[in-house]
Amino acid sequence: MEDLFKVLGLACSPRKGGNTDMMLDAALEGARGQGAEAEKVYVPDLDIHPCQACNSCFKDGRCIQQDDMQKLYPKLLSYEGIILAAPIFSMNLAAQAKTMIDRLQCCWSKKFVLKEHTVPDELRSRRRGLWLGAAGFDQPDVFEPALVTVRYFFAMLEIKRRERVTYYNVDEKAAIQGVPGALDECRAAGARLVNPPEPGAEGGELLSSLS
Ligand SMILES: Cc1cc2nc3c(=O)[nH]c(=O)nc-3n(C[C@H](O)[C@H](O)[C@H](O)COP(=O)(O)O)c2cc1C
Repeated sequence: MEDLFKVLGLACSPRKGGNTDMMLDAALEGARGQGAEAEKVYVPDLDIHPCQACNSCFKDGRCIQQDDMQKLYPKLLSYEGIILAAPIFSMNLAAQAKTMIDRLQCCWSKKFVLKEHTVPDELRSRRRGLWLGAAGFDQPDVFEPALVTVRYFFAMLEIKRRERVTYYNVDEKAAIQGVPGALDECRAAGARLVNPPEPGAEGGELLSSLS
């Protein structure tokens, strides 16, 4: 029997039941609807310390900090689908997401210091990523600074097929429910993560590649 497509949903906002949390639930529902096994993790509930820039990972591509990242690394590097649900705080990703992403420095070391892959060949081609974002400001370019970090996040995880679903002018808790079609779009993006359209077919925006 073929293995199930596994999806990891990273809920990064400290506001449980908020906009990106609701977007993530819809996307995970869409993924499950396509037969995937989907798991949700509340990143703010984890004990994740900032990177200490100790460079220990330069030796073997491993982080020596013994905190909850050690539970996340195997999932981040072995699941087929990764969904980052993270809002905009102070014009970039919320610190909960950024702290986790900084801890992928060990992946950067593996790639660029040790010149090795972070995930095996066979898995790499099947990996796909999705960013779900929300921002309060009434300007579409509010996501631009965070986009660079999101691309970096997926690049460190060796995920080349990436999509984003982001909504601006969404501020109050659960306001996303009032945006026509938003949660349906997240559901559809979650489904596409598992069963992507053929290249060139209708789909969400593919974040440009950063290898
Ligand atoms: C500390 C903090 C900083 C924020 N900074 C920004 C910002 O710079 N730009 C913006 O558009 N919205 C900003 N917001 C608003 C959030 O992006 C918005 O409320 C979003 O819907 C939150 O998503 P959530 O419900 O998933 O937490 C900020 C919110 C907080 C709590």
